[in-house]
Amino acid sequence: MWRGALVAGVTGALWAAKQQGLHIFGWQVPENGSLDLIAVAAGVYILSGGYYTLWLLYKTLPRDIGAFFKYLSILKTVKQAERANTNIPKLFMENVRKNPNKVALIFEGQEWTFAQIDEYSNRVGNCMASQGFKHGDAVSLFMENRPEFVASWLGCSKIGVVVALINYNLRHTPLIHCIKAANSKALICGTEFMEAVTEIQEELDGMPVFVSGSGENIPTLEGSKNFDNLLNSSYPTPPPQIENVKFKDKLVYIYTSGTTGLPKAALIKHNKYLFFASGVHFMASLGENEVIYNPLPLYHTAGGMVGMGQVLIYNNTAVIRKKFSASNFWPEAKKYGCTVGQYVGELCRYLLNTPPQPEDTQHKVRVMFGNGVRAQIWEEFTERFNMPRIAEFYGATEGIANIMNYEGKPGACGILSPVFRGTIPVVLIKVNRETGEHPRDKNGLCIQCDPWEEGEFVGLIKRNDPVRDFDGYADKKATEKKIIKDVKKKGDMAFLSGDILVMDELGYFYFRDRTGDTFRWRGENVSTTEVEGVVSQVLDNKDAVVYGVEVPGVEGRAGMAAIVDPEGEVEVISFLEGLKKYLPAYARPLFLRILKDIDVTGTFKLKKVDLQKGGFNPNEIKDQLYYYDKTQYVPLTNEIYEKIAQGKAGL
Ligand SMILES: *[C@@H]1O[C@H](CO)[C@@H](O)[C@H](O)[C@H]1NC(C)=O
Ligand SMILES: *[C@@H]1O[C@H](CO)[C@@H](O)[C@H](O)[C@H]1NC(C)=O
Ligand SMILES: *[C@@H]1O[C@H](CO)[C@@H](O)[C@H](O)[C@H]1NC(C)=O
Repeated sequence: MWRGALVAGVTGALWAAKQQGLHIFGWQVPENGSLDLIAVAAGVYILSGGYYTLWLLYKTLPRDIGAFFKYLSILKTVKQAERANTNIPKLFMENVRKNPNKVALIFEGQEWTFAQIDEYSNRVGNCMASQGFKHGDAVSLFMENRPEFVASWLGCSKIGVVVALINYNLRHTPLIHCIKAANSKALICGTEFMEAVTEIQEELDGMPVFVSGSGENIPTLEGSKNFDNLLNSSYPTPPPQIENVKFKDKLVYIYTSGTTGLPKAALIKHNKYLFFASGVHFMASLGENEVIYNPLPLYHTAGGMVGMGQVLIYNNTAVIRKKFSASNFWPEAKKYGCTVGQYVGELCRYLLNTPPQPEDTQHKVRVMFGNGVRAQIWEEFTERFNMPRIAEFYGATEGIANIMNYEGKPGACGILSPVFRGTIPVVLIKVNRETGEHPRDKNGLCIQCDPWEEGEFVGLIKRNDPVRDFDGYADKKATEKKIIKDVKKKGDMAFLSGDILVMDELGYFYFRDRTGDTFRWRGENVSTTEVEGVVSQVLDNKDAVVYGVEVPGVEGRAGMAAIVDPEGEVEVISFLEGLKKYLPAYARPLFLRILKDIDVTGTFKLKKVDLQKGGFNPNEIKDQLYYYDKTQYVPLTNEIYEKIAQGKAGL
């Protein structure tokens, strides 16, 4: 700004001097010297520091022009769909019309064509409508990864029923919580989870349960209905209700652990789904004839929306699996002729840990897209698996702050133009790591980070904009907590991602950490508040704090619980039994620290940061430590500690 004023001032003064025919130190501006004036203006600009901007432009402009056009394509896709007020199932059906017999999903040797998915989902829509469900109702879907999972939510969306995609690792309390958080009116569950549903049946308050996958057998759960039979007798034609489903209607709920408490149901509307799917389609330069290897859980954003969107909207084929298997990854990618792969960070490390096999390089996968591959293994990965490009993205399910490193720059999770940063609606703002507060400048606005300064990533909200509105959670209060006001100017609002990132001079972003009360482990967000609640409950309300600790060579943070137990009452065997009842495996603390004497008054929770810094080194900590060795809690000895520190514990 000031540089522009300086250039204008100096040039203006010279121009005036020229008009007046004045001499400056004996030099006179030539009569027809416009070129000289331009040269002077450029000189002043460069000398006053503008060379830096020029250098930045030189380094980043070609890259950012590319990104800009990709972004325009995404916007165009979304705006067009908005104008047509179409919806996701309709976009899918356009594709079906063109390619009905193309294989859409490959699952354990079965192939499902586009037409088959369409027909199954028509039946689901008609069936649910005849069961009395209508536009705006929510139902929960609790099923393993299989084609019916996709076809079921798609079918419900054809009549405007919103589907809550339940994480199938959940049992007991969190399972009930998730079903209820979305105000579900029914549960569609896979026969594989009969036991888990039986355990919570009393708390379902008579909610109808539809069991998928029993074939013609009667489901074992009392009072439940056989979904397969119902579908068999439902119409295979498109439900007429599809015409009432609008582009800004709710599509699905996906659960995320926000900053506090149990998982929250983040709302995904049709427009957001299309934005995510087209975002990756254009940014990662995917075609309409790819075969995508997608072993990720389908209840998550990455596998279920971004990945599945490439199939439903963009005519691609996906290979899906009940569960990820490291040793089968490349052999299957080769067998099915996959051209694209999907990952989450830890998956890449598991692949690197497999013994070398010929298939490592015999596949045709030329781009992998996903989130969370660590910088340290990036190049090892691309070399060993002969992978031309990793397209790493960053984005929260519920969020509007999304970026992508489409170039494959090792370690980066996104790119934004450093020169035009001021015009881009996502920003890094300073945050106090211990309190979670955001410092303000003298005008009461947030302070933007300089290059290499850590900050919280936020996305400015624009109401009613199809790509920049924050739709929030089923829970209003939770929604408010994720919004910060007065960020760049008075009265604006932004979505708080809860993640700490840094940006370098050239505008590459790097992920650093989660803020506050959640940490990431095995690709899942773990809420410390939730785990604290369970630990304390299992131990007859003993005081406990839970936090994540860094483990060398492993992504995310491992859970650690510090438990106050002056009387030595904690029994690790029964404790573990209790945990297993309430927490999925990834949320169970890997380490325990038993505190003998602590001032429990109020300050205990505040000690969390100190405890976290203290880590889990038995040489430095006098308290009794335990380690969960995948079967039981064992005392954490120096020997075990060394193994973990050297990355040999198989984490
Ligand atoms: C569905 O109907 C077909 C024929 O009408 C029958 O062969 C099949 O067994 C039925 N499946 C179920 C699950 O009822
Ligand atoms: C969809 O895929 C089919 C078969 O792979 C291909 O022939 C067709 O051209 C594709 N359609 C579009 C619109 O790309
Ligand atoms: C975990 O939270 C982060 C930040 O909110 C989000 O980007 C990510 O998608 C979440 N992951 C899962 C698996 O919910």
